[in-house]
Amino acid sequence: MKNVLITGGAGFIGANFVHYLRETYPGVSIFVLDNLTYAGNMANLRSLEGTDRFNFIRGDITDRDFVNDLFSKKSFDTVVHFAAESHVDRSILGPGAFINTNILGTFALLEAARATWDGNYSGKRFLHVSTDEVYGSLGAEGLFTEETAYAPNSPYAASKAASDHLVRAYFHTYGLPCVTTNCSNNYGPYQFPEKLIPLIIINGLLGKPLPIYGDGMNIRDWLYVEDHCSAITTVLEKGRLGETYNIGGKNEWTNIDIVNLVCDIVDEFVEGSEEYSKLYPLAGGRRGLITYVKDRPGHDRRYAIDSAKIEAELGWEPAESFETGIRKTVKWYLENRSWWEEIQSGAYRDYYEEQYGERLS
Ligand code: NAD
Ligand code: TYD
Repeated sequence: MKNVLITGGAGFIGANFVHYLRETYPGVSIFVLDNLTYAGNMANLRSLEGTDRFNFIRGDITDRDFVNDLFSKKSFDTVVHFAAESHVDRSILGPGAFINTNILGTFALLEAARATWDGNYSGKRFLHVSTDEVYGSLGAEGLFTEETAYAPNSPYAASKAASDHLVRAYFHTYGLPCVTTNCSNNYGPYQFPEKLIPLIIINGLLGKPLPIYGDGMNIRDWLYVEDHCSAITTVLEKGRLGETYNIGGKNEWTNIDIVNLVCDIVDEFVEGSEEYSKLYPLAGGRRGLITYVKDRPGHDRRYAIDSAKIEAELGWEPAESFETGIRKTVKWYLENRSWWEEIQSGAYRDYYEEQYGERLS
């Protein structure tokens, strides 16, 4: 790896990956391509701006001329493709952007890589970051393996499934050096506050209702974001081309159990600090804020990943325990109030305008 293109590098997992790569592979040149949708935030990359071997390019992955031009000018040897519309609820309200970015954007990147690398695939790698949601929903038993048939249920999952199929086809048809990872639900720093865990932490701090969809018994398999990042570098280094690798934390939780746990950890941090007690006063504890709301349409019941393949074949395993990871995450949101306040107020746009002279919409 010398010149690495990271699409969606200003989003949650992408930004964590950029920081992880900078620490673990300091000699690599990083090129972040991101068009800064509502979910992209340059504040996530603030500490890297102006440093050597870090380049930010604002652009849309669906703009084929722009993407082709970028590939022809920079000698990328590695592409790590995170850019996507990523929130299931938004895909239910408006699937169009998901079809556009997730399918057509992936197509544009594959075409640019194919044209630029032009059959010279030695030392090249295109890693497509995908989700376990492509497999649909599990019953009470069983795990998703790489052999599980695709059965996406939400427009988000369907758009990711389509992009996975395109990546597969480019490997089989053109020999493009692709590999795909399908990961379970991530949590950790920089996660946009519309997703379950940051939403619960922030609403809990502010004393706002904590919405639980349906009966709260849906199950997700949670992985600390840095473990996802280490899995991705492992697959970049050692993954077999044309393969897919499932990544998960063997860490299944019902939504209600996870919300209760987050409430208790937030209570503990707040009650243990004079400063936080003054900032976030609440009588009776955060569990009292839990509010059951109407279920998400087509809400998948259970996700659970079998990550035996990446563990046995590539020697990856998660380093973070859930107990430590979730505490680190709550602490991060407590210590980075300005980060989420800037998102809530829209002030992160002012920062971008000051730095780059352009107003984000
Ligand atoms: P995110 O929504 O936080 O970030 C997405 C980023 O992509 C943002 O910075 C956004 O500005 C950028 N982007 C969106 N459309 C773009 C476009 N047209 N051109 C350029 N940039 C664009 O998402 P995330 O949670 O960090 O997820 C990243 C990837 O990982 C996605 O592909 C997602 O499907 C996959 N994934 C996420 C999870 C999870 O739990 N969050 C789990 C498994 C896989
Ligand atoms: P989410 O973080 O949106 O991830 P995904 O839908 O990709 O799994 O949601 C995680 C789980 O939490 C999912 O079962 C839906 C549920 N959920 C709620 O109960 N309330 C909420 O406010 C949100 C955002 C999610």
